[in-house]
Amino acid sequence: MEIIRTVKEMQTASSTVKRSGRRVALVPTMGALHEGHVALMRKARDQGAAVVVSVYVNPTQFGPREDFKQYPRDLQADERICNRERADAIFTPADDEMYPGGIWQDQTSGPGQAAVPSAILGMQYSTFVEENVLARQFEGESRPGHFRGVCTVVAKLFNIVQPDLAVFGEKDFQQLKVVQRMVRDLRYPIEIVSVATVREPDGLAMSSRNHGLSGSERAQATVLWKALSVARDLFNEGEHNAHRLEAAMQRTIALAPSARLDYAHVVDAESLEAVNEAQRGNVALIAAHIGKIRLIDNLIL
Ligand code: PAJ
Repeated sequence: MEIIRTVKEMQTASSTVKRSGRRVALVPTMGALHEGHVALMRKARDQGAAVVVSVYVNPTQFGPREDFKQYPRDLQADERICNRERADAIFTPADDEMYPGGIWQDQTSGPGQAAVPSAILGMQYSTFVEENVLARQFEGESRPGHFRGVCTVVAKLFNIVQPDLAVFGEKDFQQLKVVQRMVRDLRYPIEIVSVATVREPDGLAMSSRNHGLSGSERAQATVLWKALSVARDLFNEGEHNAHRLEAAMQRTIALAPSARLDYAHVVDAESLEAVNEAQRGNVALIAAHIGKIRLIDNLIL
């Protein structure tokens, strides 16, 4: 397995694979790989493609008060997992490969330095990609600038890796839909493949953020999945009023003392618009803080 750190080397490796007649599959990640990421790699392998796993903690998708600095980084552990899963390459670029000129706080919602020093004013990184409809609510509302950062880095990865297909998890349902819309709108010749959420035995969706939970918070974190399951069970019993399903999710979250609900909605799976009458195929989206850790989850009815 190759470890690739520069844009140039990545472009060369990708075009070599493609000239040999093999497809290239990209699995974009921020590292701290777990079984959820592994499911994405296996899906990519199953397509018969050469698998490139990108490992890059993207600064522009974190808000100023978010966990960019604390985000877990362990390339050796990630390498072991990618090796075991027979990935063909890890693409792990440095910040100046991804953002030539540097990122400054007044350009992003994320970290970076407070102000642009006059010496480099005019030379700093300044191009972003924005999806403006699906990205507006839910995660986009709670985390301003988040999807601008995601779209920008994913577009960049697509340009650099030139994949034939890219694999994303349903765990981040809104992200999956935003990326699909970006691919349609910008006419990327890339197939987006999605993978169902991988869960712990008690239902908690796997996430690198779960490791930040204390013992008691970890136990309480199952309320997200419980709330979604309550909504699904009520729906299957014939309760199709979306507001009552949402109220049931809110009541379930309130049972955990460390939990604070951000949102719980039933939405159309494509437009992400809230519905009044829930139908099969709609998606229940939920986000809550458990102590200081913010978790998201979803379930397709
Ligand atoms: P990250 O959180 O590392 O997730 C990388 C990919 O793994 C995403 O497509 C995500 O949906 C998927 N994933 C995470 N947990 C999962 C689980 N429990 N089951 C199935 N899939 C899961 O999402 C990002 O990174 C970034 O925003 C990125 C797209 C890499 C852009 O920086």
